[in-house]
Formats: sequence, structure tokens, C-alpha cells
Amino acid sequence: MSSETQNIPIEKICVIGAGVMGAGIAAHAANAGVDVVLLDVVEGAAQAAVQKMLKTQPAPFMHPKFAKRITPGTTEQLSLIEDCDWIVEAVVERLDVKQTLYAQVATHMKPGAVLSSNTSTLPLEVLTAEMAIELRPYFLITHFFNPPRYMRLLEIVTGSYTDKDVAKRIADFADWSLGKSIVMCHDTPGFIANRIGTFWLHCAVTEAIKMNIGIEEADAVLGRPVGVPKTGVFGLLDLVGLDLMPHILDSFKTALPKGDAFHVLGPAPGLLNKMIEDGYTGRKGKGGFYRLNTDDGQKIKEAIDLKSGEYGAAKRPIPDAVRASQKGGLRALLDDDSAEGRYAWSVMSKTLAYAAHLTPEISDDIEAVDRAMRLGYNWKWGPFELIDKIGVEWFERKLKTQGHTVPELLVIASGRPYYKVIEGQLRCLTFNGEYRPVQRPTGVVLLQDIKRTTQPMKSNMSASVWDIGDGVACLEFHSKMNSLNPFVLSMINWARNELPRRGFKGLVIHNEGRNFSVGANIAMLLITSKLRLWPLIRWILHYGQNTFAKLKSAPFPVVGAPSGMALGGGCEVLLHCDGVEAHAETYTGLIEAGVGIVPGWGGCKELLCRWTQARSRPGGPMPPVMKSFESIATAQVSKSAFEALDMMVLRPGDGVVMNQDRVLAQAKARVLDLAQNYAPPEPVEMHLPGPSGRAALELAVRDFVNKGVATPHDATIAKQLAGVLSGGRTDVLDTVSERGVLKLERDAIVQLAKTPETRARVAHMLKTGKPLRN
Ligand code: NAI
Repeated sequence: MSSETQNIPIEKICVIGAGVMGAGIAAHAANAGVDVVLLDVVEGAAQAAVQKMLKTQPAPFMHPKFAKRITPGTTEQLSLIEDCDWIVEAVVERLDVKQTLYAQVATHMKPGAVLSSNTSTLPLEVLTAEMAIELRPYFLITHFFNPPRYMRLLEIVTGSYTDKDVAKRIADFADWSLGKSIVMCHDTPGFIANRIGTFWLHCAVTEAIKMNIGIEEADAVLGRPVGVPKTGVFGLLDLVGLDLMPHILDSFKTALPKGDAFHVLGPAPGLLNKMIEDGYTGRKGKGGFYRLNTDDGQKIKEAIDLKSGEYGAAKRPIPDAVRASQKGGLRALLDDDSAEGRYAWSVMSKTLAYAAHLTPEISDDIEAVDRAMRLGYNWKWGPFELIDKIGVEWFERKLKTQGHTVPELLVIASGRPYYKVIEGQLRCLTFNGEYRPVQRPTGVVLLQDIKRTTQPMKSNMSASVWDIGDGVACLEFHSKMNSLNPFVLSMINWARNELPRRGFKGLVIHNEGRNFSVGANIAMLLITSKLRLWPLIRWILHYGQNTFAKLKSAPFPVVGAPSGMALGGGCEVLLHCDGVEAHAETYTGLIEAGVGIVPGWGGCKELLCRWTQARSRPGGPMPPVMKSFESIATAQVSKSAFEALDMMVLRPGDGVVMNQDRVLAQAKARVLDLAQNYAPPEPVEMHLPGPSGRAALELAVRDFVNKGVATPHDATIAKQLAGVLSGGRTDVLDTVSERGVLKLERDAIVQLAKTPETRARVAHMLKTGKPLRN
């Protein structure tokens, strides 16, 4: 963890309320490395919540061992608060309960400790109405999103009494240690994301009923085409739980001023209430708008008819409006004169106009609103970015033609976009009609910003090399899903040869895609093996191995800076780096067995080297071989960067960066650090067990097959892997060079590529994206 993080003086946190949110916040605070006290009014609830979270998927903990950082208890033990720096209240959404609790907590807080509420609807002004004057400077709202580990948005609301340094301290901690993107909100009902998001969801449901649109059609137009996850609206409601909706709608109904457009949408539809009554509360219940019917022993996805309330087999429609959008973009979708096109226009125009109308009231700026919707609702574009896509002028005109009021912020824009790049800098329209630069938090370096002001030093269709300043270069992958192909390899070679000539101190490998890299492009493997081009397969393997080996032996330091998936070849890239600064949400592993092969660009060799070098206790040559074997044969993938440390993909001394936006800066700093007196690693000679070790591993594999845990082809792959990792025909007294292991990798892959089962695995992965267990 960074030194800056350690300087932030929040070392112990207490979370009160061990429900969905409180427990999740406690787990995430534990992920950040602090001690946590988790209290609930119900005896045993906090303890039970921790146990339950150890089994929950996606996992709230980044490593199961972090659960030990939480001390569970009850609100009878408020003295446990006394050494806490920050107390997060996450109890039921009831003003009286919260206010009573604050009075009790106040008597136990140490001087300077901060109290915050996770309320989603209650304004700070109301929460603090009866609060002791001395406590008010230390109180604020910190509104996390569910699930707290994975949702990057944190909305913060401060009041006129809140001490600015207190708010900054919490915001800094949340940014650096919890990895959150902070959006400061005004003290208005539902803050930013839920205010707009709830309007959008409610509007989509009521309009679908009114306009007689099926839920599958509604989700088809309000999903991907508008940059929303493919769950769309009804799928999302099923996911969050239908029963939450009436409460949220009620609270908005009471809290929002009379003239608010929200009221025009009317109450929750009768169908929703009936579904909740019948136990159709969404995925956590019997199902929701969609359900899985397993009556006939098959899983059939069904969708509800909004008129009759009856379920029928779910369709997968591609409405004309969606087809129009594939050609003509978002504007074509919203302008399409089909029922679904009119529906999409109706929902999105109302939502975008609502957001534009509200913005000065709920936030200080447009960019914050967009970021809140992107990070709080997983929208690809925020409302103003969406308006830019359809065109400010076009939107304004269409609203006018239909007799709708035009929001003031559209008038202010007067046909200009909300975002504009001026002199290489991204700028955003202010409320007074001028453009100002979009500010990043101090220390944040984003590749997208660098790319706006400069040209790449070298680029091809799959990768580019950028100058990111201070003598550091950045290699970016940008192929489809950032898969690795000969173009990427050629760019690595270019960087390896050119950077020293141009006086660069080192290289970061980083990109801002959803995934660092999903691995080698396996389509090539399928084609070449079908055509029996074995020498070509050997050549590709050799080329990749040489490229990665040259990266490792480069005269400058190389630091991998991944986020998301770094699988197969993507993991092999990291294994050849001098250091890794990984986003905490990094999912990595050598998963080649899933496509019927073994790692073939030095992955087997590097993992062996790492386990060999890390072994401090004597125990013969087998332990490193076993460790590598287990991880590769089972295609193990880390569920966080912390787990990657256990797997040796990250080594002690490597960094885990909680905030994704800080990964590049951290990696660059690491390069500069390593560049002082840099010498590339010496080649490793390993003592490997040879045929006897191979026999031991094969015995274990046979056992797995007999128990039915491994398939016959798993066994074939594992045998080839055992041959590589045990060093081939070596003897334990001899040494095996890195090159020797690389040759074994190539031989094993060619052998496996000759089997129809491996080809079937590759073909299946290409077709479905999932491994085939043949
Ligand atoms: P929940 O109902 O799952 O959990 C509330 C917990 O508080 C329960 O375990 C309950 O036993 C405990 N509790 C009640 N009174 C207490 C007291 N006086 N002292 C200690 N514990 C007490 O509720 P959930 O969903 O976790 O919500 C908690 C807060 O977070 C609410 O203010 C809610 O508005 C807010 N919130 C909820 C989100 C969600 O998606 N569920 C998202 C963001 C905020």
C-alpha cells in the first residue's frame, strides 16, 4: 500500500448496523487494511453477517483472511467505539432510530473522531436537527452504493457546520484506501445518483405499462443501446430487489417539493405491489419481472406480462429501434418511429431533461452528475454525455416540438456540447456558460488525459507506446478485449529496442480497458492446429517467449499496472515484469488448461522461477513444482490482487492500489524508483526433479480422475504440464536453464494441439466464452 495512504490517520473504523450495507462497508474497510468494529442492535447479527460474507459471491472480502480484522459486537458494547477514528452509521432508514443512536454514540467518541451516516434519503439538515452543537463539525453523510466493495461511487454530503478538514480527511481516506471516486453532493433528497436513477427506473416501468411495451423489448432498448448494462431496467430491478422500490418511491414522494417532475410519474404500479406480496421480490426471492421456471426439470427463463401479470417464455427481441441505433447511434434510437423507439424517447428524454433541470440544485457541476451516474448506476455515459451524443440542439428542438419545457441548462449550452477538448484538455460547461477544465484529484494520472495532448511514439492496430513524462513510457494494449497477438508482441519488441536509444528510464504496461488482457488470441491456435501447421505454432510460441524474455532482460525496469482480468498471456506479461502495481480488483491467473494447453509464453517457467526463488525452507525440488502445478492445472484465478500475492503473480514488495485512477501514477513512481541503479534479473538455473517428480504428479492426477474431479482430457493436459514443470528428462543433481523449460513448454503445447479434445476446448471458448470440460 502506498506511503500516502499510510499517512492518512484513519486506523480504526466502527460500522453500526450489520445489514446489507453496514456489513459490506465493514468488509471493505477491512480490505483497506484497517481494524473494524461492527456492531448491531441484534445479538449475534454482526458475527453472523461476517460469516455469511465469507460465503457470498461476488465476495465482499478481497481475501478471506481479512475477515479477522473485524471485531463483531452489539450496541450494548459502545465502549468499543472509543479508539475508533471514524464511525459509520448504517442502521435502518428511520430518523428516530438514527437520532437516538447519535446521542448514544457521541458520549463514546474520542476527540476528533468522525461520525457519518450511510442514509440514502434523509437530508443532513434533518439528521442533525437535534444533534449536540459540538458534534456537528464532525458529522457528514457518506453514501456508499451496494455492493460497497465493487461500486466505485461514494457520495458525500456536508452541512454548514461540517468542518472542512474533517470532510477532507474522510474523502481522502475513501479515495486512497477504499478506492472510491468521491462526488460531493448538495443536501437534497436522494442526493445525485438515486435522485436521477430512481426517476429513470420508475419512469421506465410506468411508461412501459402506459405504452404497452413488453419488458424484454423495454430492456432491449434501454440496455446496451443507451450504454446501460444489458440487464436494462427490469433486469436491474430484479437484481436490486423489487421490495426496495415502494419505500424509495414513498420517501421521494414525501421529501420532494410539489412541483418536482417525479410526482407526475404517479405511485408504484399495482402490479409491483402485487408481485412483492406474492414473494416475487426479484432474484433474492422467487423471481421478479423475470423468473427461472424449473418445473419440467429444465431452466426456462420467463418474463412477466405487464398487463395480465402472467409469465410466459422470455423472448430475445431485437426491436427495429435497436437496429436503427446500430447504424445511426443513440439519436437514431430515440428518433425511431416504432413503438419501442417512441418508448425509448419517452423514458430517456424525460430522464435527461429531469437531470438537466435538477443539476444546479443537486450538484456544483455537470461532470459530478455524469460521474455519479456512471459509477453509481454503471451507465457508460452520464446524462450530459448522453445529451452530447444526441446533440444539444437536436434534443432541445425535439423537446420544444413536443411541447415540453426546455431545461435552463440546455438554454445555457445554446447548442454547444457539455464537454469539449480545448488545447488538449477536456473541459466541461459551467452553469454560467463557460468551459472549465475537468479537474482530476491530486496525484491522479489518467492515460486518456495524456492521450488527448500528445501522439503515441509508436502505434499499430493492437498496441501503442506513449510518453507519460519524466522519462517513463507506457505500453497500451487496445486490441479486441486486449487480447495478445503478433501486433502486440511487435510493439513490446519495439519498446524494448527503442526506449534505451531514446533515453527512457523505464516502461509501464497499462491500459484503461475493462480488462488488462484476456490472454493470447486463441483463434490463431485453432486455425493453425486445424491446418496442422505445427512449425508455425512453434514459431509463434518462440516469438512470444523471446519477446517476453527480452522484456525481462531489458536494460530498464518494466512495471505491470493491471486492472480487471489479466488472464493467460495477460498474466504471463505480468510474470515477466520487474514489479507490479495492481489495482486491487485484478483477476489474474494462468488459465491455459481451460483451453486445453499449458502456458507457453514463459508462464510455466516464470512461475517455477518465482516459487524456486521464494522458497526459504529446504525441502528438495518438489515444493516449487507442486505449487506451480496446482495453480496451473486447476486454472486458478485470483479474486483480487491480494489473492494474486498468494499465487506469486504478485511478489512481496509489489503494490496493491485500491483506487483504479491511481494505478498509473503509482506504477510510474515505481518505475522511477527501480530505475535508480537498475540491473536486469540474472537468468535462473533450477534444480528440477525430472521423471520421478513427473511420476508423483501423474499419480495425483490419476487420483483426481478416479474421484471424478478431473476429466480424462484434464489428465492429459496435467500430464503434459507435469512434464514441463518437472524439467523433462533432467536429474535432480543437474540444473535446468530457463531456455530448457521454454522448450518443454513448446513441446507440450504442440502435443496438446494435436488432440481433438484441445481443439474442441479452444473452439468452445471462442464460441461461448466459457471453458469446455471434456
Ligand atoms: P438493513 O435492513 O439490511 O440493515 C439494517 C441493520 O441495522 C439491521 O441489521 C438492524 O438490526 C440494524 N439496526 C437497526 N437499528 C439499530 C440500532 N439502533 N443500532 C444498531 N443496529 C441497528 O438495511 P441496509 O439496506 O443495510 O441499509 C442501512 C442504511 O444504508 C440505511 O440508512 C439505508 O438507507 C442505507 N443504504 C442502503 C442501500 C441499499 O442498497 N440497501 C444503499 C445505500 C444506502
